[in-house]
Amino acid sequence: MADKDGNKLAKDFAVNVPAETKSFHVKGMDNVDWGMKDRLSRIFDPKSGRTLMLAFDHGYIMGSTSGLERLDLYIPPLTPYIDVLMGTRGAIRATVPPTFNKAVALRYDCGTTVLKEDLSLGYQGVSIEDAVRLNASALACQCFVGSENEVHSLKILTDAVDAGNKFGIPVLGVTAVGKEMARDERYLGLATRVIAELGASFVKTYYCQEGFDKVVAGCPVPIVIAGGKKIPEKDALMLAWKALDCGAVGVDMGRNIFQADDPIAMVQAVRSIVHENNSVEGAWEMYQDLK
Ligand code: R5P
Repeated sequence: MADKDGNKLAKDFAVNVPAETKSFHVKGMDNVDWGMKDRLSRIFDPKSGRTLMLAFDHGYIMGSTSGLERLDLYIPPLTPYIDVLMGTRGAIRATVPPTFNKAVALRYDCGTTVLKEDLSLGYQGVSIEDAVRLNASALACQCFVGSENEVHSLKILTDAVDAGNKFGIPVLGVTAVGKEMARDERYLGLATRVIAELGASFVKTYYCQEGFDKVVAGCPVPIVIAGGKKIPEKDALMLAWKALDCGAVGVDMGRNIFQADDPIAMVQAVRSIVHENNSVEGAWEMYQDLK
């Protein structure tokens, strides 16, 4: 304990070494607090600046889906190769050992199930206290920009941002594109910008062939690319590569990993693109070799 007497005189101020003012490695996050930066650094690798997130939160609106029938069997083997687990509190508590010590992007909103036509009506499904208890590194919220319940979903987002800011937990805003919306530069540019301006620390969105670099540039916080429906493995690797080439800094993929012919090979191939700048051909070869 510090006390009045017997202290060594402080003298090693290294006056010739300027304090480092290097900016933080996550876009738009220079001015957030230490705790938030610590959590963002668990998500975005400080060396590559990028992240590989495994999305397995599908059950919260669709129940069991192919590749996720047994979370306890199928998620743990993928975990060593990813940076972030994106899941629901129920799935994480029940099936992911805390000893894995991976960052968690916790599903924070609950939605209408796939049994209903319109999925845009949701509510906040987790208290901030429970998110803290789960040591969440991020709170994930779906945003239905342009859909029937747009305002409602954006209110869940801003509430999450306020709650997250209290505890230094970043919010991941997810663009949920309703059937009536085109997945093009105009829509995705608008939706991602709205979500960022409402306070999300990073945004998950879909890739578009035309102008995705402008979507990324117009968003003041990092963009991670969504996987979407299952496509052939090589096409999924191409999708990840193209999105990163346009400036996205991460991949948040679900079905294209856990529904691949060989999920463990696929997650490693995607990882090589994200963190090792592997080419599509290189990653495809890697996938085939590991398979
Ligand atoms: C909703 O917020 C999420 O986008 C999905 O539930 C899930 O993360 C989708 O992952 P993927 O489309 O890659 O299977």
